[in-house]
Amino acid sequence: MPDKPVVVIGRKFPEAVEARLARDYRPKFNPEDRVYPAAELLSLCEGADALLPCHSEHLPAEVIAKLPDTVKIIANFSVGVDHVDLAAAKGRGIAVTNTPDVLSDATAEIAMLCMLGAARRAGEGERLIRAGAWKSWSPAFMVGTQVTGKRFGVVGMGRVGQVTARRARGFDMEIHYTNRNRLDPALEAGAVYHESVEDLLPHCDVLSLHCPATPQTMNLMNAERLALLPEGAILVNTARGAIIDEAALMAALRSGRLAAAGLDVYKNEPHIEPAFFAIENIFLLPHIGSATGQTRDAMGFRALDNLDAFFAGREPRDRVA
Ligand code: DGY
Repeated sequence: MPDKPVVVIGRKFPEAVEARLARDYRPKFNPEDRVYPAAELLSLCEGADALLPCHSEHLPAEVIAKLPDTVKIIANFSVGVDHVDLAAAKGRGIAVTNTPDVLSDATAEIAMLCMLGAARRAGEGERLIRAGAWKSWSPAFMVGTQVTGKRFGVVGMGRVGQVTARRARGFDMEIHYTNRNRLDPALEAGAVYHESVEDLLPHCDVLSLHCPATPQTMNLMNAERLALLPEGAILVNTARGAIIDEAALMAALRSGRLAAAGLDVYKNEPHIEPAFFAIENIFLLPHIGSATGQTRDAMGFRALDNLDAFFAGREPRDRVA
């Protein structure tokens, strides 16, 4: 019987996932959950057959070029794959997989939290209470925006976008969206399709971003496009920070042109632009869209299913390169 494949584990994975790894592979775990510098990651990959990174392990073309020839697959513990240069991996014949579907519910929950946190000033309220600064109730105290019955716009009606739209319908919101391809009417479920982001924006009281970060979507929400949103709109981002021009967003929040924003993701994570901290009408979370025990287990198992298929000579279900 051939030796079990050696796999490098990017970060600390859930217990049940690491147990399965220990049973079926020869894993090089990361018990301290450190973010490996590229040189250390590359040296750990010496003699390894596979790498299981998260989005915190950046694999641009220059790192992919230095991966040992033994590494045949990068099985990501993430649905987003913007941290991996797919063309470079493909060029070297390295398979790349991701973990779609299993985190859609958890991420949609966080999109709703970002929407409500922004609309109802949850961050401000929490900060006030913890600072012992809540002095009295009054009709004018902490008045926010009601989202019930308003228009909810989605950029990117893939798996997460569709679940998020369903959750927004729970607030009687009218769904508008744009997507590379128009959905079938059954999946649209009455949502209004717009051919371009520019067409969509004027129809969004709340705009929620669900497209991948690619060279085409970099800074998609720039000053010009933010200005197309209705006065007092709310912006939600649970996808990737790269999609928003953060300076333009801050200007729109400071001027009051946008009522508020709810963000779970940032351009240069975990180093958030400090200017955000001085802006009250923004609700900030630390990239926890998929952070439930159930979802993190499911992401790990999905990555392992892809790995198992690959080493059994089958096509991995979630191959993206
Ligand atoms: C994903 O899976 O892409 C999440 O953002 C966590 O990495």
